[in-house]
Amino acid sequence: KKTAVLISGRGSNMSALISAAMAPDYPAEIALVLSNRPDAKGLEHAKELGIATGVVDHKDFSGDREAFEKDVDAVLKQHKIELVALAGFMRILTPFLVNAWSNRMINIHPALLPSFKGLATHERALEEGVKLHGATVHYVSAEMDDGPIIAQGAVPVLDDDTPDVLAARVLEIEHRIYPRALELVASGKAKVAGARVTTGSVEG
Ligand code: GRF
Repeated sequence: KKTAVLISGRGSNMSALISAAMAPDYPAEIALVLSNRPDAKGLEHAKELGIATGVVDHKDFSGDREAFEKDVDAVLKQHKIELVALAGFMRILTPFLVNAWSNRMINIHPALLPSFKGLATHERALEEGVKLHGATVHYVSAEMDDGPIIAQGAVPVLDDDTPDVLAARVLEIEHRIYPRALELVASGKAKVAGARVTTGSVEG
């Protein structure tokens, strides 16, 4: 399946998806990396790897989110994209793009949803004193950081963790679960049944 990865910054999850998709039997091809920021670091890396890149700069739309999304949607269509993977894409989406890509758009969030939606997840996990933290890949729905969960990975929270140390531990698990979740979606093994996703696999 032709897949676009949408980024705003560093793009380490993007890189993990690109690496995984290089395997010959992987069911998704990363056909486009699209950023809302022209200076996103991940764009350079994608170019080095020979992947098509695009920029739709949200600043060109003077706050009109839907106009921005219409351009994003048009670029996705130009590239004949079938699946969208948000990877550190820092824009809140309107129902327009969410509905246009319903069941075909996934996101990674650095927390064990439904805990810690939104930003600063690692700081809040430490404040709350949770002993397990992690990351979630989910289908994108109209509510932010909501939608049927495809995969999760957990890590321990240790006594002397700082937000940065914890973030690095979670990031490692993100790089493991995102390629696996995209594989489940692109192969058709992930099936949405109401609020739940079944994958037909016994793996956690
Ligand atoms: C990741 O922690 C992701 O979960 C969050 O933003 C961060 C993006 O990192 N949504 P990167 O750009 O993939 O390196």
